[in-house]
Amino acid sequence: MSDLEIETEGINDAHDGSLDSVTSVFPSTASEDPQKKIVVPELLAILPVRDTVVFPGTIVPLTIGREKSKRLVDAVITNTKIVGIVAQRHSDVEDPALEDLYRVGTAAAILKLLKLPDGTHSIIVHGLVRFGIEAITQTEPYLIGRCHTREDTVSESTELDALVQTARQQAQRVIELSPGVPEQAAEVLGSIDKPGALCDFLAANLQLNLIQRQEILETFDVVERLKKTAAHLAKQIDVLELSAKIQNDVKGQVEKQQREYFLHEQMRAIQKELGQTDGRDVEINELREDIRKAKMPEGVEKEANRELDRLTKIPQASPEYSNSVDYIEWLCELPWSISTEDHLDIKQAEKILDADHFDLEKVKKRILEFLAVRKLNPKGRSPILCFSGPPGVGKTSLGQSIARAMGRKFIRMALGGVRDEADIRGHRRTYVGSMPGRIVQEIRKAGANNPVFMLDEVDKLGQDFRGDPSSALLEVLDPAQNHSFQDHYLGVPFDLSRAMFIATANYMDAIPAPLLDRMEILEIPGYTSFDKLAIARTYLVPRQREENGLTPAQLKIDDSALSAIIEGYTREAGVRNLEREIGSICRGVAARIAQRRKHPSVIHKADLSEFLGPVKIEPELALRTSTPGVVTGLAWTPAGGDILFVEATAMPGKGHLQLTGQIGDVMKESAHTAYSLVRSRAKQLGIDQKRLSDQDFHIHVPAGAIPKDGPSAGITMFTALVSLLTNRHCKKDVAMTGEITLRGLVLPIGGLKSKALAAHRAGIHTIVIPHRNEKDLIDIPPDIRKQMKFIPVEKAEQVLTNALAQPTRANAPKRARSRKRG
Ligand SMILES: Nc1ncnc2c1ncn2[C@@H]1O[C@H](COP(=O)(O)OP(=O)(O)OP(=O)(O)O)[C@@H](O)[C@H]1O
Ligand SMILES: [Mg+2]
Repeated sequence: MSDLEIETEGINDAHDGSLDSVTSVFPSTASEDPQKKIVVPELLAILPVRDTVVFPGTIVPLTIGREKSKRLVDAVITNTKIVGIVAQRHSDVEDPALEDLYRVGTAAAILKLLKLPDGTHSIIVHGLVRFGIEAITQTEPYLIGRCHTREDTVSESTELDALVQTARQQAQRVIELSPGVPEQAAEVLGSIDKPGALCDFLAANLQLNLIQRQEILETFDVVERLKKTAAHLAKQIDVLELSAKIQNDVKGQVEKQQREYFLHEQMRAIQKELGQTDGRDVEINELREDIRKAKMPEGVEKEANRELDRLTKIPQASPEYSNSVDYIEWLCELPWSISTEDHLDIKQAEKILDADHFDLEKVKKRILEFLAVRKLNPKGRSPILCFSGPPGVGKTSLGQSIARAMGRKFIRMALGGVRDEADIRGHRRTYVGSMPGRIVQEIRKAGANNPVFMLDEVDKLGQDFRGDPSSALLEVLDPAQNHSFQDHYLGVPFDLSRAMFIATANYMDAIPAPLLDRMEILEIPGYTSFDKLAIARTYLVPRQREENGLTPAQLKIDDSALSAIIEGYTREAGVRNLEREIGSICRGVAARIAQRRKHPSVIHKADLSEFLGPVKIEPELALRTSTPGVVTGLAWTPAGGDILFVEATAMPGKGHLQLTGQIGDVMKESAHTAYSLVRSRAKQLGIDQKRLSDQDFHIHVPAGAIPKDGPSAGITMFTALVSLLTNRHCKKDVAMTGEITLRGLVLPIGGLKSKALAAHRAGIHTIVIPHRNEKDLIDIPPDIRKQMKFIPVEKAEQVLTNALAQPTRANAPKRARSRKRG
């Protein structure tokens, strides 16, 4: 033994730490003779190792890197081959002294030395027995320590048996749970019969850190050692069980997907073998064919094919698949290169327009001009027309007629209540349930890219927080932009420039200004009674007769009856109600024919009450009285012109003016202006000053539920006040319109034609108009101009001369004053 001390000069170590796995730490029980007690030499070459504890009974490879350790191995290998392997407390110490080492280590026999080409040495050691270091006796060329053997303390007991059994069971469980542990591990475990050795074997193979291993090494009492090992085993089992569970869950999911994938693939393979193709392949091939047939512009086709490629990679069951199919179908169904051929025969077109609508010469002329330009320059940009006028004057039906004349498809898109930009332009495809906007939807429905596209009721366009739909319309209507209209859903531009856009509106003021700017306005102001009669006779009656399945022999409506309907049953600028009333008569007659009851084959005025009930509208002038203070004015509303009465009255007071009848700010201001003018000119007008200061005045505009505004009632209110204060009543058949100023000037107004038509309907024969509106008289239909008298005036006094009756004795101002006094 003493020679060992000499030979085992300076041993130092280096080590390696990967001793955790069962495969790398072999028990040496088989080769060991259990009877033989191993005794450690008193002076032992000490090989410090990092992060490793070598247990007795195990065979472990170690890597030797440090020079001191190489010297040790070189010396010992030729001699006793026994080294004392001790773990360093800290792995970063290069040349450990006694205090850097644990005091308990394992004496081991070097079984083999390998010198590797890179200069490191590798040894395989066989752990023999625990030892304790008492002192270091030599540090160079390697450490030598004075040591003594540490035997296990063990006494047979039931507790020991129980602990051994538990440890075996636990170890068995660990082996089961650990993937990749060889089956022999269980056998090896079974072959170890010494409880202490069992612990050492398990500790060597468990996932423990250096401190935990060293602790087991330093536990000489076998019962204690078993308890500690069992605790580690239990923890290991917990970790393994949990990770097995997690793995199982994950595996379950992956397996299901994989299974489905394989089944699908198998199905496809089988179908292919049988000469069938699956639904998805068929669908994709059909889409590919559709894309080819759609003759899209290059960029769009590329996009469509890209989407198709994406589709082939999406599982058929996923919602994305059907979204993607929808999108491609949308692209395929749009008329990218389908257009109808224009009929550009002007004569023919004129015939069709005339066949559908009476008069409207200006509009028809404009449409024929448009066609003529088209003929000369088929590629030119289409202007955007806007028909403006009261309800029922044929704006919408004119659009249809234009489409018919040109041989184009007709699209009518009602804009009333459209508040959201997405209504027009669609939602991006990222939104669930997204769709293209109305423009694209309608174009698809029409099936041609050059329809007559009517944007009906642009003045009803809404606007709120969801974005301004008019901004989207701007792009549609701008000929410079609409060749690449962007729908959010499509994501590719569509050329709208070949469509002919026509807008309609009741009320120009409500159209957003930028939109208005892009359109050419054609006004359709409303019809006179003559027009209506002609329209009824040649268009409405034949149309309604046909709709109700009657022949001309079965039903005629004579002109007296039609006029009576126009005057007594409808009061409108257009002809919608007229058509409805005619429809009622036709239905009534049809019902009688079906019931085989007697019915008149020609409807006269006298028959109307039978079919339509009593007269609905009393002649407006009947409402009028010849009381001073009531004057007829003219108003202009979105529903056409109308007459309105202004009533003034006086009561004791202090010269205040009260206004009622839902009148707007502008109208109120003109009432005050009129009142001030009356007061300032009282003397010239022959009004008693005292009356003005002793009395309050009230101006009311009846039909109080209808809001009214605008300055054009100025002269009417002025005349009403003067009429009241001078006791001169207004002439029955005179109406007036005009703004008034404080200097007594009469300023021009708008909507003269509508107002004149309304006055005519109401049986008025004279209209006082502002001088500067004289030029507008040309717009008024000649037959009306012939029947009515228009008196242009510049000053307020002229209005009075023309509208108020001459003071008679009975109602002269003097009498009035004296009556009042009396
Ligand atoms: N000049 C006309 N000749 C023949 N029929 C007409 C004429 N004007 C209007 N009509 C008929 O009156 C009916 C109502 O017309 P339409 O619906 O086009 O009115 P609109 O101007 O669009 O009204 P709204 O502003 O309320 O939409 C239609 O049946 C139309 O054919
Ligand atoms: Mg309409």
